[in-house]
Amino acid sequence: MIRPEVDLSVMLGRIAMKNPIATASGCSGYGEELAQFFDLSLLGAITTKSITLAPREGHPPPRLTETRAGMLNAIGLANVGIEKFLAEKLPALAAYSVPVIVNVAGSTRDEYIEVAAALDAAPGVAGIELNVSCPNVKEGGIEFGVDPKILASLVEAVRQKVSRATLIVKLSPNVTDIALTARAAVDGGAEVLSLINTLRGLAIDPWRGKPQLTNVTGGLSGPAIKPVALYMVRRVWEQVAGPRNVPILGLGGVQFIEDVVEFLRAGATAVAVGTANFVDPETGPKLVEGLREALGRLGCGSPRDLVGAMDLSK
Ligand SMILES: Cc1cc2nc3c(=O)[nH]c(=O)nc-3n(C[C@H](O)[C@H](O)[C@H](O)COP(=O)(O)O)c2cc1C
Repeated sequence: MIRPEVDLSVMLGRIAMKNPIATASGCSGYGEELAQFFDLSLLGAITTKSITLAPREGHPPPRLTETRAGMLNAIGLANVGIEKFLAEKLPALAAYSVPVIVNVAGSTRDEYIEVAAALDAAPGVAGIELNVSCPNVKEGGIEFGVDPKILASLVEAVRQKVSRATLIVKLSPNVTDIALTARAAVDGGAEVLSLINTLRGLAIDPWRGKPQLTNVTGGLSGPAIKPVALYMVRRVWEQVAGPRNVPILGLGGVQFIEDVVEFLRAGATAVAVGTANFVDPETGPKLVEGLREALGRLGCGSPRDLVGAMDLSK
């Protein structure tokens, strides 16, 4: 069989990715950890840990626990803060030929705006991803990403300060209908939607009666959440992203090549790998190679051919 030349490149908003495999925020720090295992330039993009205005220690340990089919974490946004990130972490990342997406978190609107503005002015930042699963301290602690009105107004405010980098909004799955928050994010000016963040969960030591995490609750990730993530990517693609031509960065349990193909078929343009990095840090480059082979087998010349391609015939 003559196989078409496979071109793995995709556009994620204005970010040119050489392949559709990225890392997920929080699962490889600022890239240094993964760089010990492979050349980061092999990836389509790298996403940093959430950055806040001031440095944060995060929650005291234990802040991570394994579950039957995944992981529960409450890291508490531990990070070096924007100043140190720009001075020390970004230059090291920018040395690789891979687009850098910087994830941003905040507890007030102003914090998001200030951090995003500083990143937009920094050379070497291709994308700014808003982690909107953070409690809004001024609105009684409700997460920014669960109320469509609050979300649209946050994205709109950040949008005014972001012009050079592509603005990505990372949606929370802890909502009744993710299409509503997806629409709000796009109305506010999101150029790309990434989904999903972790699902809220709880693990208890049955004999001591104590919660497994100091923070009590945590975010569930890994294989357990993949079907939820696929469903949500599909829903957002059908209701918002497809009709409005907004690319989706899909994530939640991506580990094997089959997972990548499923996410593309659900409607994602690219995928990100999070928890799987803890199992095998070389998951990213392995998926890039696997995808080349899988597309050849499917007779596709590009991952773009698969976006949304689900056969619903009876
Ligand atoms: C240990 C850990 C830390 C994370 N930290 C962040 C973070 O700082 N910001 C963020 O937006 N998402 C964070 N996430 C969520 C992931 O980026 C991702 O959305 C989620 O884990 C689902 O993907 P996965 O199943 O491939 O891990 C974190 C996840 C884990 C497991």
